[in-house]
Amino acid sequence: MIDTEKLLSVAKEAALEAGEIQLAYFGKKKEISHKFNQFDLVTNADKLAEEKILSVIKGHFPEHGFLGEESGSYKSEADYVWVIDPIDGTTNYAHNFPHFAVSIGLLYQGRIYLGVVFDAFKNEMFWAAEGAGAYMNADNISVSNIDSLNKSLLATGFPVNRDGILEENIRYFTKFLYEAQAVRRPGSASLDMCYVACGRLDGFWELNLAPWDITAAACIIREAGGEVSNFGTDNFDIYVKNIIATNGLLQGKMTEIIESLMP
Ligand code: IPD
Ligand code: CA
Ligand code: CA
Repeated sequence: MIDTEKLLSVAKEAALEAGEIQLAYFGKKKEISHKFNQFDLVTNADKLAEEKILSVIKGHFPEHGFLGEESGSYKSEADYVWVIDPIDGTTNYAHNFPHFAVSIGLLYQGRIYLGVVFDAFKNEMFWAAEGAGAYMNADNISVSNIDSLNKSLLATGFPVNRDGILEENIRYFTKFLYEAQAVRRPGSASLDMCYVACGRLDGFWELNLAPWDITAAACIIREAGGEVSNFGTDNFDIYVKNIIATNGLLQGKMTEIIESLMP
């Protein structure tokens, strides 16, 4: 029997603790290093926040597995695997641009079961669990009812791994600039997806994302009545790096446009 309430309360506790670490270092001088390339940043706060999340979850559920951006995979065969991004939007965070989040998703036997995305700066906790609806803090949230691209506000992101992918996304970006009311590039995939879940955005797409960017928010969007899929299919797999996430009404149109421009 899955104890959803306990799982959610531990996920929220871990997110709140990580958010405190984020805020403690926000606006201060940080130790910044690079991972994949010169554009791929990691700060001391990313590492501390991930350690804190792991210690909170392990304290309650020592038998669970993890996939963390900063610490990799642990017990990946476990029934419950937590998928963690301690700061989603590190480039924003490093520049003191206040759009970043903690993202904590949970897979149960491989399927997306629960998600918490916390914007500590705005004190907005987005959360959902399978069959339980989607919320921001105590309020139930749902996607928008915009059903035409020319009335929609869309968002995307551009990955730190630029080879080939920048050009591909610039093609989609240009097309959506013409088709949509407006397009934004906020810089935190998990939070941008939660903005779709609560109707601030109507659609989102991106390439080259990792499971920790999207697992939690995919649960939140689905529970808010929206849809997520990978390019070229109706299915959604967190290990396939691209995503289209919408209020559902725009899923078909955005998919069609992206497919018509895919390499
Ligand atoms: C990044 C953010 C950004 C997206 C990048 C991600 P990070 O995550 O989600 O919005 O455009 O592709 O890598 O590195 O800040 O955790
Ligand atoms: Ca991320
Ligand atoms: Ca991160």
